[in-house]
Amino acid sequence: MEPKDLSTFRREYRGNELTEETAGNDPFSLFGQWLNEAIRSEAPDANAMSLSTASPDGTVSSRMVLLKSFSEEGFTFFTHYHSRKGKQLSANPRAALLFYWPELNRQVRVEGAVVRLPDEDSDRYFDSRPRESRLGTWISPQSQVIPHREYLEQKLTETGRKFSGSRIPRPPYWGGFRLVPWMVEFWQGREGRLHDRIVFKRSRRTWQRARLAP
Ligand SMILES: Cc1cc2nc3c(=O)[nH]c(=O)nc-3n(C[C@H](O)[C@H](O)[C@H](O)COP(=O)(O)O)c2cc1C
Repeated sequence: MEPKDLSTFRREYRGNELTEETAGNDPFSLFGQWLNEAIRSEAPDANAMSLSTASPDGTVSSRMVLLKSFSEEGFTFFTHYHSRKGKQLSANPRAALLFYWPELNRQVRVEGAVVRLPDEDSDRYFDSRPRESRLGTWISPQSQVIPHREYLEQKLTETGRKFSGSRIPRPPYWGGFRLVPWMVEFWQGREGRLHDRIVFKRSRRTWQRARLAP
């Protein structure tokens, strides 16, 4: 089937306004408010975000991951440390996150430095996951070429047998990263393409706020 002519796709972005007053002075507080509103709007996967990483030579790659917590310390997600993203983050610990909540006509961009979570924090989250998710981390050599699907199914059977009746520990190559932002930008779609963009940039211990042209 021929896809429709994408150049004719357009819609109005009618959203609430984002004023300096509603934005306030703290990007974490505004982010928390927007995330809660996205969850309440029943956006599927409201905590899903695109994560972009780059190798030291500047090759960029993106993929979706799930935000598992956030605070003034940063934005946390979990993954395989030897995956493509894991290797890029080890070699070049900087990344960008992107949230898009179409139900609210909102986008949030985050850029910053990335650190590995302490092992105890990764253990705590790992232990809270369902058994099959914990088992999955032992089975999948994320981002590596595998011969066929049966390879995974066979490993699942073997590994399930190995850990049968016992606690599944966190593999040393799996855990969390925290992105500590130096920039957070909020985009609120408005009518007539006059969208609101408010950006926060960290300057030492405080945040500088500015309005950007859409
Ligand atoms: C909605 C959604 C959420 C995802 N969440 C995660 C996640 O939290 N952690 C993860 O490692 N992969 C997650 N994935 C899979 C990644 O997008 C990606 O396929 C995988 O991590 C391998 O990426 P890499 O080869 O670039 O390292 C998710 C995919 C989707 C579509």
